[in-house]
Amino acid sequence: MDKELLMKVACICFVLSIFQSSCNAASYNVVRFGARADGRTDSSKAFVNTWRAACGSFGSHTVYIPRGTYMTKPVVFSGPCRSRIMFRIDGTLVAPPNYWDMGNSGFWILFSKVTRLTVHGGVIDARGSKFWACRRTGSRCPPGVRSISFLWSSNVVVRGLKSLYSELIHVTVSNSNNILLENMNIIAPSRSPNTDGVIIQSSTGITIRNSLFKTGDDCIAVGPGSKNIWIEKIACGPGHGISIGSLGNSLNEAGVQNVTVSNVVFSKTQNGVRIKSWARDSKSYATNVEFRNILMKAVDNPIIIDQIYCPSNRCPRETSGVQVSNVRYSNIKGTSTTMEAVKFQCSASNPCRGIQMRNIRIKTPNRATTSICQNVHGWASGSVVPRGCF
Ligand SMILES: *[C@@H]1O[C@H](CO)[C@@H](O)[C@H](O)[C@H]1NC(C)=O
Repeated sequence: MDKELLMKVACICFVLSIFQSSCNAASYNVVRFGARADGRTDSSKAFVNTWRAACGSFGSHTVYIPRGTYMTKPVVFSGPCRSRIMFRIDGTLVAPPNYWDMGNSGFWILFSKVTRLTVHGGVIDARGSKFWACRRTGSRCPPGVRSISFLWSSNVVVRGLKSLYSELIHVTVSNSNNILLENMNIIAPSRSPNTDGVIIQSSTGITIRNSLFKTGDDCIAVGPGSKNIWIEKIACGPGHGISIGSLGNSLNEAGVQNVTVSNVVFSKTQNGVRIKSWARDSKSYATNVEFRNILMKAVDNPIIIDQIYCPSNRCPRETSGVQVSNVRYSNIKGTSTTMEAVKFQCSASNPCRGIQMRNIRIKTPNRATTSICQNVHGWASGSVVPRGCF
């Protein structure tokens, strides 16, 4: 570069930096607020103070967590903020070594009432194994925490997050709108109890894509009050599959509508695509659901509607009030570990309606597969294996 050009570049940078400080686009580094990248010192206060500084001033700010391992107890990042926030994590957040230090709130990292947020990168490790062991032995244990949660929030992007060994659910989205979760890596062992990947409830406009789930419970569960949900390009397994529900645990529960699940590979999961409701009276429903372009690899229950769910016999002699309607299954291929590759166990009082099946081919390695068809109405087109319901 010649001297003149260098001068010009320097000059532009100088002008830009003035411009930036005048429009107040600052970076708030957690280390400057006292966080320690030693993996041991409790950095929760530093994180919350950094967040408050960024959230409280006008503009567009970055909360920055540099490389290194930071121990944090439960933290709440609450809004509304004056600014748009980029929450950039280059480091790893780990839970305290003693699970009793996770408290009783049910949350580890919680974003509440936040709008215009991007969470970029990062590894969060809840170190759940001792907590799972406590629950397995049934001795006195704390309630446990979800790893990262978004409540009462909107216009949020979470990109490139890796969540390891959650105590319970890895990611929850609740009472929120317009949330995009992508390029996530969610990991817990297949035998870790209740370590669901993502749980959505009472939320609208939620997209989950290009993500990998290996966990001990549902990879993704879409709960009551969810609308306009888009799930695509997902690898799930081990885990319990992708589930709508459980629905209908209470009488006046909001339903689920407009859910699309496409381009998913299930590997050795308990279920593939499932709709599940309690066998109890309820006004809830699931409608306009589409499952398409799905590969099953050794899945126990590839296609299942279970409306007779009732653990610990809490609904004797009741049927599910949840109305399941307009569910489309298309281009679903692969293998089942059980003969009953398709199970429709719909409610006797509210039969499933408008179930469509198109181009289904699910086999077991050496036996023919069959369907269970209870209280189900719909139609098939193209080639459907196993046949049977319509
Ligand atoms: C269904 O949800 C998708 C996003 O997930 C949205 O683009 C579409 O407009 C919704 N359809 C209806 C009819 O609301």
